[in-house]
Amino acid sequence: MAIDYFGSPSCFRARDKPNIGREGLIMNPFFFRKQKSQTSLGAIAAVALCLVAFLSLAASPNPQPASPEASTLRQVAEARHIVIGTAAASFLLGEAEYASILGSEFSQLQAENEMKFGAIHPRPDTDPNPYNFAGGDDLVAFAQSHNMVVRGHTLLWHNNVPEWLKKGGYTSAQMATILQGHIHAVMTHYASKVYAWDVVNEAFNDDGTMRSTLWYDQPGIGAGVGTKYIEQSLRWAREADPKAKLFYNDYDAEEINKKSDAIYAMAKDFKKRGVPLDGVGFQTHITRKFDDPAKLKSYKENLERFAKLGLELHMTEIDVRLSNGDTSSLAEEGKLYGEITKLCVEQPACKVIQTWGFTDKHSWIPGFYKGLGWALPWDDNYQKKPAYEAMHDALAK
Ligand code: XIL
Repeated sequence: MAIDYFGSPSCFRARDKPNIGREGLIMNPFFFRKQKSQTSLGAIAAVALCLVAFLSLAASPNPQPASPEASTLRQVAEARHIVIGTAAASFLLGEAEYASILGSEFSQLQAENEMKFGAIHPRPDTDPNPYNFAGGDDLVAFAQSHNMVVRGHTLLWHNNVPEWLKKGGYTSAQMATILQGHIHAVMTHYASKVYAWDVVNEAFNDDGTMRSTLWYDQPGIGAGVGTKYIEQSLRWAREADPKAKLFYNDYDAEEINKKSDAIYAMAKDFKKRGVPLDGVGFQTHITRKFDDPAKLKSYKENLERFAKLGLELHMTEIDVRLSNGDTSSLAEEGKLYGEITKLCVEQPACKVIQTWGFTDKHSWIPGFYKGLGWALPWDDNYQKKPAYEAMHDALAK
């Protein structure tokens, strides 16, 4: 569907303007309608022009093979009804290359930091102006003007908690009021603009036990032990914006292990009891070690078991951190990007492939993992890396 008649990008662009619905799937009613009713003179002329262009190319003594990158990631993903997303920051939108790649290669935008609690709710509720939607709003405006959907991240996390909340000495009852108010304010502000939210982020330890956090037990929101505070947050989220898709999101839960077992048990229980959970996000912050048949098989089987629960699956924060950027490392990284993309392509419940940023120039990895970097599909000069080609190929196949 995303391939034009002759592999020519200009013919493609003339024919197809992506229109992405808020269901998380690419819904392109205009595209499909256009296909059926394209019998106008203008359309015939456009096809004829493309044909002439194609014939003259074919007849030229040195025909140029169609570039495999004639289409964007977004175009090849669209053909598979997969949303291709990336995390972004509003203060970078003024960088021309950044904005140009973001707006053309991706069909989804997610705030890397600007919708997190501390950023969006920097002052206590007693303040006349507790919220700061400026950064999030800029990102939403950019996404809308580039026909991208917006995924929300995140309403509840142990990190990015503002000082006023950490040091406020609130009781559990007060914490519950604050959290419910936060979920309500943020989700209603972005209702009909943000189609899906990571309601709860990283609530489990690697061994599958609950992480001890401000929201769970320090002092917690008073919901009780186990996954009850997650359930409560999901219920508040559903009330705040009944149309938004609600996700639980975590890292190192890609393979079948103690953490993903715990998330799976929670999801199964929630589905059984009608707790509003629509999907699970698999962050996929990985290293080259993940390019191991056993690990990839485990990721595939893990996705399968979650899919069987009727959940939507998103790969939410893909990056592959390396210790150097030499040619062979980048090639291996590319191969792994291809394998991960393929896992989503082959799993019908997997609707979103999202990288955590897109250029090494602005990746969080070097600041977080000393000495590591080179983690994203574009290098720090905005040149496409083998990772880009591999994702493109896996989506185009
Ligand atoms: C990271 C951002 O990329 C950094 O800029 C910030 O300093 C810390 O948070 N899991 C998540 C993301 O869910 O929100 C984190 O983002 C990366 C790990």
